[in-house]
Amino acid sequence: MKAIGFYLVTDTHYFENALGAGGAAFEKNMLTEQYFVKESSAIVNSVFKRISEDKETDVVIIPGDLTKNGELESHKSFIKELYRLRESGKKIFVITAGHDYNDSAYVLQGDGRVPVEGANFDDLCEMYRDFGYGNALAIDEPTHSYMAQVTDGIRMLAICCDSKDQPKGAMDERLMTWAKEQLDKAKEDNCSVFAICHYPIIPSVPVFDLVGDAKIKEWRKVASFLADNGVELILTGHMHIQSINEYYSENGNRLIDVCTSCLVGSPAKYRKITVDENSVLKVKTIDVEDFGWDMNGLTAQEYFYRQFFEAIINRVRGALNGGKGIVGHLKSFGRKRFDKLTVGTLGRILFIKIDKSLKNKKLTELVGEVGVGIFLGDGPNTEGTPVYNLISGVLKRFSFVVKKFEPKLAKDGNKVDLNKMLFDTIGNNKAYSDNNAEFILK
Ligand SMILES: [Fe+2]
Ligand SMILES: [Fe+2]
Repeated sequence: MKAIGFYLVTDTHYFENALGAGGAAFEKNMLTEQYFVKESSAIVNSVFKRISEDKETDVVIIPGDLTKNGELESHKSFIKELYRLRESGKKIFVITAGHDYNDSAYVLQGDGRVPVEGANFDDLCEMYRDFGYGNALAIDEPTHSYMAQVTDGIRMLAICCDSKDQPKGAMDERLMTWAKEQLDKAKEDNCSVFAICHYPIIPSVPVFDLVGDAKIKEWRKVASFLADNGVELILTGHMHIQSINEYYSENGNRLIDVCTSCLVGSPAKYRKITVDENSVLKVKTIDVEDFGWDMNGLTAQEYFYRQFFEAIINRVRGALNGGKGIVGHLKSFGRKRFDKLTVGTLGRILFIKIDKSLKNKKLTELVGEVGVGIFLGDGPNTEGTPVYNLISGVLKRFSFVVKKFEPKLAKDGNKVDLNKMLFDTIGNNKAYSDNNAEFILK
């Protein structure tokens, strides 16, 4: 691939504050929300300003979930931010995704929902005409996928698989046929191609392979299709996680999937990506820093972290509600103890040896820390660490349940090893970092 440099920013989830979100319903929603809503416009404004000051890099790519939930006013204000960034000399390429069109958009106000005007899917290409669609070499009308010339000798295949009336989170045969034509044409024209897609192609962490909406459908097939047709790099978002993964097709071709966090929620990162004249791909992660908001003395990263940490704990509390019969009893037992139990007590109940650094830690705190840690990338809980040993102990106690479930989880002949899946999710056992990594491209 020829030399290129660009910024990758995703899941900006921009919200226009003049729409007036607030009140009890909004605050309740924020208890389990990973990302900020009222702060989003200030964050986008501050990050775009920082990017505009970098005169080295003139391309910015944003693969979807541009607005909070498709509110037309959020789009209008976000587009103004894009034009401001463009004035600094940047070429901007976006795709839209599921949060960018909405027939029944609303904002949370007072005790409930107040309807607002939502963006229409069919209008999005025109609204974002100066940010990829207007100069596209080809557009696939049903999905709004497009092929663009980013720079001399380099094209970008923008795959949109979050479109109205089309299979969600999927690249079906029709879309693959269209993409193949574009990739063949790029080859004829002596251009190399990288791709973007809102959905991750490769599951960001192994357990996401078990979560339907966490990656594109039939991901091995899509990854092989791209890799075998000359795409070695794809940039994705949607899961709000920092991860980098490689996949090799049966023909030995590689796809590298760089999935990046939501800009306006923990981990709140974006990337600067370069490929040099020797085809060395460098991925650098940048933190969202102070964005002029009163954060009660916390740094921006601490502020983001606290929101997600508490949201995870509140989601677990929520999941322990309800249920009938034995499930209801177990949930009620868990709910009563979840907030009080220490890891040391859990160890005594399950006869597991607990490292002294964890003994007095509350279970809620551990759940929050491990949860946020997974999304930050480079999971620290590798073999031999206290958390690894704890989870390993729990899995041994419940090995009969694991053995029973594993065969049911197998898909397309791919066996599931739940233990390995979990360990490779809480700890990065790959040869490269999820945040700052280097690869030599073909
Ligand atoms: Fe998103
Ligand atoms: Fe999404």
